[in-house]
Amino acid sequence: MKICCIGAGYVGGPTMAMIAKQCPDIQVTVVDLNQTRIDAWNSDDLPVYEPGLDEVVQEARGRNLTFSTKVDEAIAAADMIFISVNTPTKTFGMGAGRAANLEFIEKCARQIARVSSGHKIVVEKSTLPVRTAEAVKRILSSSGNGATFDVLSNPEFLAEGTAVEDLLKPDRVLIGGESQEAIDKLCDVYAKWIPRDRILTTNLWSSELSKLTANAFLAQRVSSINAISALCEATGADVDEVARAIGTDSRIGPKFLKASVGFGGSCFQKDILNLVYLCEHFGLREVAAYWEQVVSMNDYQKQRFTERIVKTMFNTVSDKKIAIWGYAFKKDTNDTRESAAIYICRDLIRERARVVIHDPRVSEGQIRATLTEACTDMQGNISDLDKRLIAENVSVAKDCYEASKGAHAVAVMTEWDAFKELDFTQIYDSMQQPAFVFDGRNLLDRCQLEKIGFEIHAIGKS
Ligand code: NAD
Ligand code: UDX
Repeated sequence: MKICCIGAGYVGGPTMAMIAKQCPDIQVTVVDLNQTRIDAWNSDDLPVYEPGLDEVVQEARGRNLTFSTKVDEAIAAADMIFISVNTPTKTFGMGAGRAANLEFIEKCARQIARVSSGHKIVVEKSTLPVRTAEAVKRILSSSGNGATFDVLSNPEFLAEGTAVEDLLKPDRVLIGGESQEAIDKLCDVYAKWIPRDRILTTNLWSSELSKLTANAFLAQRVSSINAISALCEATGADVDEVARAIGTDSRIGPKFLKASVGFGGSCFQKDILNLVYLCEHFGLREVAAYWEQVVSMNDYQKQRFTERIVKTMFNTVSDKKIAIWGYAFKKDTNDTRESAAIYICRDLIRERARVVIHDPRVSEGQIRATLTEACTDMQGNISDLDKRLIAENVSVAKDCYEASKGAHAVAVMTEWDAFKELDFTQIYDSMQQPAFVFDGRNLLDRCQLEKIGFEIHAIGKS
């Protein structure tokens, strides 16, 4: 059996590395148009940081796992082709700002149709709007070489930062399809390491819709607890205590109740907006408005955090240095897509603060690129002022000590474990007084910091 995966990103790379590790008899080739990314997958410095991923890749690479830019060749040789390309929110035309941009999916389907012969199973791994398989099937059926196809939906549920663990022991694998034979072939791949009762099979449309729904429910929980965090700050309740109290109810459960500066990542916002667009398309206005509120609440949470910093610091942060601890959208990843830190930093520099950022896994280039993107409108314009602020008011530090030296405040954006182990007395002594801490992750020990002399403001705590 030969597998090809189109798209060597945060999903394609780790997922295929795990399949190759667990199934030494299957040849797995991961292809991408991006030469730099493929070179990185072939090096010791992988493009995706995930705990445990290096070991998985090292075990399989060169044995039955290959990374390449020869897309046509890999498709032609494969029995099963996974499509794992990006499906970002459209930034232009109809549905701009909401609908998923399916350009890359369609291009893959056309390429598969063009170079295939014989019979192939095409697996949608990317997150897609419900009924995309219909379009994929039509495009594939136009293959000039007499090739035949079965299309399956197999959405990925891994979370970044825990990808290896999630792939090793998933809560479930979901496979949607029409042909039992094709479903069985994909089940057999996963069954090499996942118990059969964790492999769920459904029709194509349920599988496609389940992925959007799962992300909408998860994001909704974060927005729900973040909404309550605002009320906690106004009333003297403590959001962590409320989360513990409600989470012990077995119907609610304890997970995904951590109040924060706002959810980020490449999936939640994009997938909810896609769901909203689909509901509107089907005339379900109330349903669309219901889900859209999850994103609005998240925007409010980010904006509220910046406002709290400015108000607390005597209504001005102009020319004040603010240390930003963490820039990734969560710990244990180098991914910054939709990270709350981007928007907080943008809004702080627009208040003329000087931000000094440290993240153990994010480079200066990535920080500047994401800030530039956040200041750019849908027409591709960025003001000269924003350009100047990014150039002059943003700097990057090698650690939290350097970032905090001479700062008026620290803002914790990412819950990296290492941030809990610092010498806070040294940091306090190096800062301007009063030394403020705005803990956007409720990560730090409030009592310990207050004893040292910090004035600490945390999420959902007055
Ligand atoms: P990504 O941007 O990291 O990777 C996608 C890759 O596809 C890029 O390297 C790009 O160069 C490549 N690509 C695009 N068009 C191509 C083409 N025609 N031929 C060859 N390569 C092409 O994206 P990702 O985070 O891996 O996400 C991929 C999909 O998986 C998305 O639909 C996403 O919603 C979904 N998903 C992501 C996550 C996550 O945690 N990131 C989790 C579950 C599902
Ligand atoms: C998410 C889904 O969890 C995963 O199943 C899907 O495949 C892809 O999208 P990911 O975005 O990688 O995964 O990370 P996740 O752990 O879901 O966190 C998303 C955001 O929510 C992060 O910014 C995180 O910090 C935030 N979050 C999560 C909270 O603020 N509080 C929580 O309790 C949980």
